[in-house]
Amino acid sequence: MTTRLQELPHLGVGLGFREQLAEQILSRAHEIDWLELITDNFIRRTPAFLIRAEQLRQRFRLIPHGLEMSVGSSGPLDEEYLRDVADFVDAVRAPWFSDHLCFTREGNIELGSLIPIDRTFSSAVEVARKAQHVQEVAGRPFLLENITYYVEVQSDLEEAQFISAVLDNCECGLLLDVTNLWINSINHGFDPRKFLDAIPADRVVQVHVAGGYVTDEGRMIDSHSYPVPDEVWQLLADLSQRTDLRGVLLERDGNFPPDFGVIMAELESARTAVGWEKVRKDR
Ligand SMILES: [Fe+2]
Repeated sequence: MTTRLQELPHLGVGLGFREQLAEQILSRAHEIDWLELITDNFIRRTPAFLIRAEQLRQRFRLIPHGLEMSVGSSGPLDEEYLRDVADFVDAVRAPWFSDHLCFTREGNIELGSLIPIDRTFSSAVEVARKAQHVQEVAGRPFLLENITYYVEVQSDLEEAQFISAVLDNCECGLLLDVTNLWINSINHGFDPRKFLDAIPADRVVQVHVAGGYVTDEGRMIDSHSYPVPDEVWQLLADLSQRTDLRGVLLERDGNFPPDFGVIMAELESARTAVGWEKVRKDR
């Protein structure tokens, strides 16, 4: 039977593993509570990638975070991909795993980006059915992450209502990307705290935080390449008052600061925002 969300361990504050940061991450392993691995960078690769994952697993709790489950596609799930993801989740002994509330594939066409789902009640039910199946095949909690979207989609439901409808129809959890929420609230003109009021906070297991930039047209872009803005830390602090979060994860994908201490300082800012001590690792 799949573990209930309320029984999941508290992992603390972690960092998205990127190969360019591997050396620094390993040298400061005692200061980083856990790592998130991009699932697709490890599955369907040479055995060297699994050896790398095992090397990391000996030092950190690992959470696989995927890009291609595409629970929002109109067709069926890719069962072979799901099986490969489930095997990887198993191999790294992850307490949970995640992917995005979106679609990345239509038929046999790979779309190459995260595309928002039409927010209707029937699509919410269909997404929930697929997410539940993913969770059951992997035998552990599966979290869906809210994405950024830059154009409005066909919608009968507000984004928070859509997310709530998905969660109402499955037992999966939510990976709330607080930066995505903040960016969407600016680009689409809504109050992020009303969004937090509208979703079931007890389903939020993990969060992402990252930093983006503003374009010349005044649009916020979620690039994962700048420091986390103060508004995001405040939203995170607000969210942590509403529920018992199990993990906070800093995503940094580019524009890496020459001094790794800058990234480590952001992990400390995350700890401050949620009021957590550093997790003691017995490994
Ligand atoms: Fe994210």
